[in-house]
Amino acid sequence: MLNVTQNVNLAPYNTFGVSEYAHWFTRINNPQQIKELVNHPVFAAKPHLILGGGSNILFTRSFEGLVIKVDIKGIEKIREDANHVWLKVGAGENWHSLVMHCVTASYGGIENLALIPGTAGAAPVQNIGAYGVELAEVLEEVQGFNLADGTQLNLSNNECRFGYRDSIFKQELKGKFFISSITLRLTVGRHQLRTSYGTLADTLIAMGVNQPTLYHVSQAVIRIRTSKLPDPARTGNAGSFFKNPVISGKQYRELKEIHPKIPGFIVDNQGVKIPAAWLIEQCGWKGKRIGNAGVHEHQPLVLVNLGGASGQEILKLAEEVRHSVAEKFNIDLTPEVNII
Ligand code: FAD
Ligand code: EPU
Repeated sequence: MLNVTQNVNLAPYNTFGVSEYAHWFTRINNPQQIKELVNHPVFAAKPHLILGGGSNILFTRSFEGLVIKVDIKGIEKIREDANHVWLKVGAGENWHSLVMHCVTASYGGIENLALIPGTAGAAPVQNIGAYGVELAEVLEEVQGFNLADGTQLNLSNNECRFGYRDSIFKQELKGKFFISSITLRLTVGRHQLRTSYGTLADTLIAMGVNQPTLYHVSQAVIRIRTSKLPDPARTGNAGSFFKNPVISGKQYRELKEIHPKIPGFIVDNQGVKIPAAWLIEQCGWKGKRIGNAGVHEHQPLVLVNLGGASGQEILKLAEEVRHSVAEKFNIDLTPEVNII
């Protein structure tokens, strides 16, 4: 029986640590509860929001509908051959614990994605990525439910329409599809380690590692991340607040004339990706604060709750940052964080 409660403070359920309320709140522990969910009177009458670990969400107001917390657990080996293993992972599994589980079992493919907060079920939503690897490279299938009628539906990798911090779950299926589990295809034996990402290669050298293993890569990633990203357990944040913008080659060349040091990375047939952190730093925002909301002192792409900030305060800071970047560089930053 679905337990639906009222007026739940969401502070423990979002890594910004913002104190807003869910009018209605429930947990889904197994896929069989979805039928009951879609037939529940509160679900039918009110808007709903699916919530994993709340590490990519900014609540700017109380949610006047039903927040559905995903708690489906389980890691199951469903297939293996000489080179690969296929793992089916419950949407509510903690992503970083899954990475370490795989590193320990010597399953390769997600070691570069160590220490990304949140749940396995949210990983396909924005196609999580870090240090040269994206989830799309190892994701075989997403299993879930169409929330319009509770029917089960599996999506292949292609059907997920993955892009940079993008997927069908942020587009056509936004709010309409409940991801209950994901299947990953990982390597056993001949692993294809990705260590060329600048800071990762440097860190492995600094660790004195010549022949890296899955474990070494995960530890190097953890070392980089802990040195520059704030720990949400201490300082509220949701990682990068904005996406790195991709601009045309023409606009990049024009900007380069005015700002010769502007970094840029060519993205296949799409243009040039500019580090938003650089743009924000150049606008003088690094380490700045407005009230209780701040721009992180080591990574200006990360906005932080310096203690007791409201979602509105953080949003106002984000808007000011966005405005400065648009004025100085004529580039419109798009939020990566889901703003509610
Ligand atoms: P939530 O914040 O709970 O939800 C995110 C979105 O997914 C929401 O729209 C929600 O409705 C939807 N959703 C969640 N679960 C489901 C489900 N089961 N079915 C359907 N929809 C669902 N991200 C990166 O890509 N790379 C990084 O390097 C990275 N570093 C980070 C570092 C820090 C310190 C922090 C705080 C965040 C970072 N992030 C990074 C962002 C975040 O960790 C990821 O986006 C993560 O996948 C979010 O997971 P979550 O469970 O917390 O999702
Ligand atoms: N930079 C500055 N000043 C700084 C920090 C960085 O100018 O203080 C510039 C430098 O040019 C640097 C560049 O930004 O080379 C890139 O910085 P970094 O390697 O930290 O990566 P990022 O582009 O800021 C992206 C992802 C992160 C991911 C890292 C590592 C996005 C929006 N963010 O950050 O993902 O962990 O690369 O791969 O793509 C997230 O999505 O929440 C997230 C943290």
